[in-house]
Amino acid sequence: MVRVLMVCLGNICRSPLAEGILQSKINPDRVFVDSAGTSNYHIGDTPDRRSVSIAQKNRIDITYQRGRQFKVEDFDTFDHIYVMDNSNRRDVLSLARDDNDRAKVKMILNEVFPNENVDVPDPYYGGDYGFENVFKLLDEACSVIAEKLQYE
Ligand code: 4NP
Repeated sequence: MVRVLMVCLGNICRSPLAEGILQSKINPDRVFVDSAGTSNYHIGDTPDRRSVSIAQKNRIDITYQRGRQFKVEDFDTFDHIYVMDNSNRRDVLSLARDDNDRAKVKMILNEVFPNENVDVPDPYYGGDYGFENVFKLLDEACSVIAEKLQYE
């Protein structure tokens, strides 16, 4: 089993979408996908209705998900930890215990724009267009990730 964790700030907008999109592209017998937030703002919450809506439009259900906070043990559970932006990366890396932990942390859009460290824009304070844009970016990145996971 390969284990993949998607991480953003709140775990209600971007990482739930990334989880749902990747889930739709992999074989669940081989790959386990989860998501978490660096903050404790939305523990136990359902995803933002705008994320639920853009996912539904694309025939992906994320309503079963609940917010949780990233914890240091996630470095033991997961093989790949994809962060949505540079701020998430700093927060996750601040909990890393060694180089092995650090090596698991990757910017998700580096799968599409290698080495550019581009952020998935935080859509929380914007309108619906922000969510469409986020969906498109994450869909591209997750296609690349799903393809690579076939060879692990
Ligand atoms: P996310 O978006 O990190 O993509 O889930 C946010 C959700 C909530 C907040 C910030 C960003 N917040 O400040 O509550």
